[in-house]
Amino acid sequence: MDSLTGFESAYVRASGDATSLSWADLVPNPNMIRWLETNRVEGANQRALVIGCGLGDDAEELARRGFATTAFDISPTAIQWCRRRFPDSGVRYAAADLFHIPGEWKASFDFVLESYTLQVLPAEIRRQAIPIIAGFVASGGTLLLIARSRDDDDPPGKSPWPLTREELSLFVASGLAEISFQDYMDDESPPVRRFMVMYQRKQ
Ligand SMILES: C[S@@+](CC[C@H](N)C(=O)[O-])C[C@H]1O[C@@H](n2cnc3c(N)ncnc32)[C@H](O)[C@@H]1O
Repeated sequence: MDSLTGFESAYVRASGDATSLSWADLVPNPNMIRWLETNRVEGANQRALVIGCGLGDDAEELARRGFATTAFDISPTAIQWCRRRFPDSGVRYAAADLFHIPGEWKASFDFVLESYTLQVLPAEIRRQAIPIIAGFVASGGTLLLIARSRDDDDPPGKSPWPLTREELSLFVASGLAEISFQDYMDDESPPVRRFMVMYQRKQ
């Protein structure tokens, strides 16, 4: 799917029925929940950013945990859908393209979630996206990345394209330190191989 136009079309076609959107589970990402619980993450006085937020479940979960949360997606229809689903939400939802982000978001978030958006971007675009994502993380802040994964020499396959360890090295080249790295099979049926990586920007 062409991320710049294809996702908006998919959300429009879905017409309020998420069952046609293969990625929309309408629950927070269980991998993120596990990570938040394991690391006893608390959101009070912390600013969070959710990249490619889709229908908003991860953003709502972070807000529920106390984060002052901003969430954006390239699809205006997805953002309208979030606002309809969560009319009393404290999340600041925005229709925005990762490649044209407001300047004030730079280095402004204590916690950044990137789950399942990089993997829908073709490899050459993904390489451009990684420094932008790293750039959202404030001094001392954390980035949690969750993505499909493969070995460096595995064929790329088809969209959603699993990421490689070599691609992830761009986060470190973009100024973040890798704090933890997991390469695991998740609980889906059938199980999906994923990376879950925690990065931090040193103070
Ligand atoms: C596979 S969906 C994942 C959505 C959500 N993160 C989830 O886990 O349910 C990928 C999302 O990234 C969004 N997206 C794709 N390209 C984008 C871009 N350049 N800027 C912002 N969002 C983008 C799509 O509209 C879509 O909602």
